[in-house]
Amino acid sequence: MDSTSSLPPWPRTPPAHGGVLLRRARAGDAAMARELSTDPYVPTIGTLPPHAGDDEALEWINRQHRRYDEGTGFSFAIAEAATDAAVGQCGLWLSQLPDGRATAGYSVAPSARGRGYAADALTALTAFGWTVPGLFRIALYIEPWNVGSTRTAERAGYLREGVLRSHQEIAGVRRDMLLYAAVRPE
Ligand SMILES: CC(C)(COP(=O)(O)OP(=O)(O)OC[C@H]1O[C@@H](n2cnc3c(N)ncnc32)[C@H](O)[C@@H]1OP(=O)(O)O)[C@@H](O)C(=O)NCCC(=O)NCCS
Repeated sequence: MDSTSSLPPWPRTPPAHGGVLLRRARAGDAAMARELSTDPYVPTIGTLPPHAGDDEALEWINRQHRRYDEGTGFSFAIAEAATDAAVGQCGLWLSQLPDGRATAGYSVAPSARGRGYAADALTALTAFGWTVPGLFRIALYIEPWNVGSTRTAERAGYLREGVLRSHQEIAGVRRDMLLYAAVRPE
């Protein structure tokens, strides 16, 4: 699998921090994906359909695998370190790697929120990012109302750089986005 991608190798040891580790998604994560799809916001920012059935959840998991093969980036399941049970998903998107830049995103299933998992996952994802040769900057685009996400970014060491007015369309509406970023430590 690794040899078919233009990206650096998949990490031999799952990136980990605090209560989570980041691993490949697998079919057994479908129940988590189905729960994630009940969040009204998650389907608007990715390809998981709202209230996904089993087949849709499995197709979404398969799409996450293809992200690496296609050279789009690394999509990880966020798993509880203690149990290896999936609690969410995060991605490091590397289509701008030739310019030294990446973006990242993350979602945690509603029943697993409020335990620090998103902040732990973003911390692990960011540290993994600095192992990617030629990567110097990771950006996050966050809607101003999404305080859970801005706090997650701050907990993981990202700094707010400004507001991008009318930056993108989500659910048919142009949205302002806050720009957060982390840069490779000296
Ligand atoms: C945003 C999201 C990932 C947070 O996940 P989580 O695992 O509950 O977050 P954590 O427990 O790691 O919390 C991280 C910080 O955010 C704060 N936080 C989390 N949810 C919050 C909320 N709804 N309101 C206010 N603060 C919140 C926590 O208190 C913590 O801050 P602190 O350490 O200063 O107390 C989760 O709510 C989610 O998946 N939302 C839908 C998808 C989404 O918005 N993704 C991000 C798109 S940019």
